[in-house]
Amino acid sequence: MRRLLLLFGLQVLASASQHRQVFEIPSGIQNKTSIAQFTSTSTPLDAPKVHPINASAFDWWYFDVVSSDPSSLASVIVTFFTSSQAAFPAGAFASSATVTIEGDNSSGAWHGTGFKWTRIDAPSVGVKGSIVMRSTAPAHLPCGAVVEGETLQVGPHIGWANGVPDAASIVNLEINGTAFTFEGSGYHDKNWSDQPFTTHVASWYWGHGRLGPFSLVWYDILDVNGIEHVSAYLAKDNHIVTASCASQSISVRLNNASLYPPTMSTPNPTGYRISLDLGDGTRMEVDVNVLGDLSEPNPAYAGFVGNMSARTVGPPGATGGGDGTRAENTVTPPRWELVLTRHDSAVLEALDGVALFDQFKLIDK
Ligand SMILES: *[C@@H]1O[C@H](CO)[C@@H](O)[C@H](O)[C@H]1NC(C)=O
Ligand SMILES: *[C@@H]1O[C@H](CO)[C@@H](O)[C@H](O)[C@H]1NC(C)=O
Ligand SMILES: *[C@@H]1O[C@H](CO)[C@@H](O)[C@H](O)[C@H]1NC(C)=O
Ligand SMILES: *[C@@H]1O[C@H](CO)[C@@H](O)[C@H](O)[C@H]1NC(C)=O
Ligand SMILES: *[C@@H]1O[C@H](CO)[C@@H](O)[C@H](O)[C@H]1NC(C)=O
Ligand SMILES: *[C@@H]1O[C@H](CO)[C@@H](O)[C@H](O)[C@H]1NC(C)=O
Ligand SMILES: *[C@@H]1O[C@H](CO)[C@@H](O)[C@H](O)[C@H]1NC(C)=O
Repeated sequence: MRRLLLLFGLQVLASASQHRQVFEIPSGIQNKTSIAQFTSTSTPLDAPKVHPINASAFDWWYFDVVSSDPSSLASVIVTFFTSSQAAFPAGAFASSATVTIEGDNSSGAWHGTGFKWTRIDAPSVGVKGSIVMRSTAPAHLPCGAVVEGETLQVGPHIGWANGVPDAASIVNLEINGTAFTFEGSGYHDKNWSDQPFTTHVASWYWGHGRLGPFSLVWYDILDVNGIEHVSAYLAKDNHIVTASCASQSISVRLNNASLYPPTMSTPNPTGYRISLDLGDGTRMEVDVNVLGDLSEPNPAYAGFVGNMSARTVGPPGATGGGDGTRAENTVTPPRWELVLTRHDSAVLEALDGVALFDQFKLIDK
C-alpha cells in the first residue's frame, strides 16, 4: 500500500485555444477572491476550476488503482493538488505546474517534483514507473451524465467531476528499487473549492469499486447544517445504469448504522452498507468490508481498501431479489433493462469485487 501526495501553492493562468488548452500554474498563494466554477460548461472536466488559489481554496486531481485481487491488498493513490501549504502541510513541492487538455485527454506535470500524470519519475521520493488507465465507464457529474449547465457541487462549495469512474489499469512502479506491479480498477476525479473543506463538511463517505461487470461510485456527505448530500453512480458495459444526486438514490452507512452521524470519536469501521436505487422499487444492497487501512491514524480521516458483495432487493410483491420477475411485469425504463434482464440477474446474485474508499468525520465529539 502506498500513498503519494504532492502539494504547492499557486496562481492559475489560463491560455486556451480551440483544440488544445494549456494551463500554466505558477507557485504562490494569492491574497484575492477565488472564483470557483460550480456549473458545468463546455470547459473540459480536467481543466483547473479555481482561479486564483487563495489561502482558503484547493483544486485536486486525484488518481487511484486498487488491485482486482482482494487478497493482494495492493493499491496506489496519486494526488496532484494546488492549495495553500497551510491547508495540507505534506508532500513533494512543485515550482509550478502545467495541465494540458486535448479533447478527452488530459495530462499534467508538477514541475520540479518529477510527477506527471502520464509518467512518474521522482527520485526525491524514490518512485518511478507508470500507471496506465484505460477508461471503461462514462464520465459523470454529481447529478448525472456530463452535460452543460449542470451543478458541479457534490456538497456545499465542493466541486466534483468524475472523469474516470472506472478504468482497466496497469500499475508498473519501482518504489525505492522494489518493483510494485499489479492490475486493477483505476479511478480519476477532481475536486475543488473556494473555501476550506472543513467549513462545510461534518462527515463524508466516498468510494469506488468494481462489482463483477458493474462500476460503482458513491458519495454520502453530511454538511454542518445536518443536510445530507449524495451522489450515486453505477455503470455497466461502458453505459451509465444510474447516475443521480436525488436524496433517495443512495445511502451509505457504517455496517453498524447506529453510529450515524459519525464523530471524531466514532471508531474506524469494519465495513459499510450501501443501498442504491435502481428504479421501480428495486435497490442494490452492497456490503463493503474493510481489508486494509491506507492512512496514518487520524480521528478525522481514514482511507481503506476492501472487498464488496452485492445483491438486488426487488419491490414489495416481487418474488425474491434479483430474479428478473420484476423486469417482466412492469413498464421497464431503459436504465432498468441494463440491470435486471434475466441474464444480468443471475450475475447480480453472485456479485463481488474490490473497492477503495475513504471517510471524513469532523464533528469534534
Ligand atoms: C490581504 O488583503 C487584505 C485586504 O487588501 C489585507 O487587509 C490583508 O492584510 C492581506 N493579507 C495578507 C496576508 O497579505
Ligand atoms: C478566497 O476566496 C473565497 C471566495 O471568494 C472567499 O470566500 C475566501 O474568504 C477567500 N479566502 C481568503 C483567505 O482570502
Ligand atoms: C487521446 O489519446 C488517445 C490515446 O493516446 C489518442 O488515440 C487520441 O487521438 C487522443 N485524442 C486527442 C483529442 O488528442
Ligand atoms: C524511499 O526511501 C526514502 C528514504 O528512506 C523515504 O524517505 C521515502 O519515503 C521512500 N519512498 C516511499 C515511496 O516509500
Ligand atoms: C478529493 O477527493 C478525493 C477522493 O475523490 C479525496 O481522497 C480527497 O480527500 C478529496 N480532497 C478534498 C480536499 O476534498
Ligand atoms: C453499534 O454501535 C453501538 C454504539 O456504539 C453499540 O452499542 C452496539 O453494540 C454496536 N452494534 C454492533 C452490532 O456492533
Ligand atoms: C470479503 O472476503 C472475505 C474473504 O474471502 C469473505 O469472507 C467476505 O465475505 C467478503 N466480504 C464481502 C463484503 O464481500
